[in-house]
Amino acid sequence: MVTSQVQSTFSNNTVYPMKVVNNITDLRQTINEWRLQGLKIAFVPTMGNLHAGHISLVTEAHKHADKVVASIFVNPMQFGANEDIDNYPRTIESDQAKLIDAETDLLFTPTPEIIYPKGLDKQTYVEVPNVSDGYCGESRPGHFRGVSTVVCKLFNLVQPDVACFGLKDYQQVQVIETMVEDLSMPIDIIPVETVREASGLALSSRNGYLTEEELKVAPALSQNIQWLAEQIKNNTDFIGLARTAANYIDNAGLKTDYIHVCHARTLQPASEDDKEIVILAAAFCGKARLIDNLRVSL
Ligand code: PAJ
Repeated sequence: MVTSQVQSTFSNNTVYPMKVVNNITDLRQTINEWRLQGLKIAFVPTMGNLHAGHISLVTEAHKHADKVVASIFVNPMQFGANEDIDNYPRTIESDQAKLIDAETDLLFTPTPEIIYPKGLDKQTYVEVPNVSDGYCGESRPGHFRGVSTVVCKLFNLVQPDVACFGLKDYQQVQVIETMVEDLSMPIDIIPVETVREASGLALSSRNGYLTEEELKVAPALSQNIQWLAEQIKNNTDFIGLARTAANYIDNAGLKTDYIHVCHARTLQPASEDDKEIVILAAAFCGKARLIDNLRVSL
C-alpha cells in the first residue's frame, strides 16, 4: 500500500501538494477529514493518459467544490474480450504532472485487485436499462455495465458532492445521469463540453493509435456530423440523411460504425417533433474506434 505526496513548484515558488493514494483506507481517511471540515468535494474519474479534455474536467470541478479528487483506473469490466485493455496507454508520471498543474488535491490510483477483489465474475454489477442499449452499447456489449458498475463503486468510495463527465462520451453521460437518478445518489453530475483539435477532431486517448495519415482523415467524423446537423434543420428524413453522412465518412477513408439522429435525453431515434436532438456517431480509423456527437436544438 502506498500513499505519497507529489508536488510541483510553480514559477512564483508556491508549492502545490497532491496526495496520491492507491488504497481504500487512506482514501476514506482523507475524504473523512475533509468532510469533518465541511468541505465540498468534486470528483473526476478517468482511465489516465490524460489530455486537455480530461484537464478541462478538473478545471470545471474546481468551480463547484473546495477539493478535487481525480482517479486513474483502466477498468477491465468495461473492455470487451477483443478490445485494447492491454495496449491501453498508461502514462502515470505525465498524468500526475498534469493533475498537479491543474491543482488536483487527491489522485486515487487503485489496482484491479482493489476494485474487484473477488474477480470480475463474482462482482455485483449495476446495469442501466434503455440508455445503455444501442449505439456504443450495441457495438461494445457489456461496456456500459462495466462503466456504471465502476462509477457506482468509485462514487461510494469518494462520496463526492459533484462529479464531472465529458460530453464527448455523450451516451456515457446519459447512463451516469440515469443511474444517479434511479438509485437516488446524492451527487450532481456536471457535463463538460468536448475539447477538440483545431481540425475539429475530439481529443481522445485513442487518438494516440492514429498514424500521421490517419490523423489527416480522422476529422471527417466531426465534419460530417456538422454537415448532418445543418441538414436536419430543413429536412426531417433523419434516416436517409444519416445514411448519406455515413457514406461521406466512409468515402473519406474511415469505416462508419454507426451514425444516428436521436432524442437528446432518451437516445431513441428522433421523431419529426423532437426539439432537442443529439447526433451520435462512431467510426473506425485504422486501429482506433473514434466516437463523437453534436447536440442540435431544432
Ligand atoms: P476516459 O476515457 O479516461 O475519460 C475520462 C473523462 O474524460 C470522461 O468523462 C470523458 O468523457 C472525458 N473526456 C474524454 N475526452 C474528452 C474531451 N475531448 N473533451 C472533454 N472531456 C473528455 O470515460 C472514461 O474514461 C471511463 O469510462 C470512466 C468514466 C473513467 C469509467 O471507467
